[in-house]
Amino acid sequence: MEVVELESAHCDALLRFFAGLPEGDLTFIEEEVTDPDVVRSWASGGAGGRRFVALDGDEVAGYVAVRPLPGWSSHVGEVRLVVSPTRRGAGLGRQLARQALVTAVGDGLAKLVVEVVAEQGAALALFTDLGFTGEALLRDHIRDREGNLRDLMVLAHHVDETWAGMATVGLDEALGQDLS
Ligand SMILES: CC(C)(COP(=O)(O)OP(=O)(O)OC[C@H]1O[C@@H](n2cnc3c(N)ncnc32)[C@H](O)[C@@H]1OP(=O)(O)O)[C@@H](O)C(=O)NCCC(=O)NCCS
Repeated sequence: MEVVELESAHCDALLRFFAGLPEGDLTFIEEEVTDPDVVRSWASGGAGGRRFVALDGDEVAGYVAVRPLPGWSSHVGEVRLVVSPTRRGAGLGRQLARQALVTAVGDGLAKLVVEVVAEQGAALALFTDLGFTGEALLRDHIRDREGNLRDLMVLAHHVDETWAGMATVGLDEALGQDLS
């Protein structure tokens, strides 16, 4: 599936994608994704960060964003990733996460973080394979729709430390340079 940087032409499809997600998945995005003005501001570059969509024809099947944190953490990018529930398990999450990492390294970010619900096996597997490691465990940090408390993990990828590791997962090729 094609992964491209978000442009104005994708905004309606992206809004449809968000509208079709279960509420629990929307919480991973953190931004006001059902507001058309917010989504359009992303495409015009007004909101900061880099955003990509996976396209299946005219439909969006997945979305990833890397947003630099504000102020003294502006060297750190935060990743937000969601794949349509009907498209999961086909490698799309992996493809989008890889795109986020390549983009962040290319943009000169020194560190990436991602928040993952502790039981999210797919998200853990995917980010761990890309060189992310657990950096914080926030216990009982999330309340799901049934009111159950769940742990939140913060996974981090330190770009310099994992430079050599990146070469092993093929990111050097994606960056167009030899990192080994
Ligand atoms: C996390 C998420 C993006 C993964 O998307 P996806 O398209 O299904 O991911 P992939 O198909 O690339 O699968 C990634 C890996 O996880 C593995 N996996 C899938 N479900 C799993 C599970 N329940 N337990 C363990 N591993 C699992 C897959 O086997 C795959 O590994 P493989 O390529 O070695 O087989 C998707 O589940 C999602 O949108 N979840 C809700 C939002 C979220 O948690 N985002 C992450 C934090 S921002």
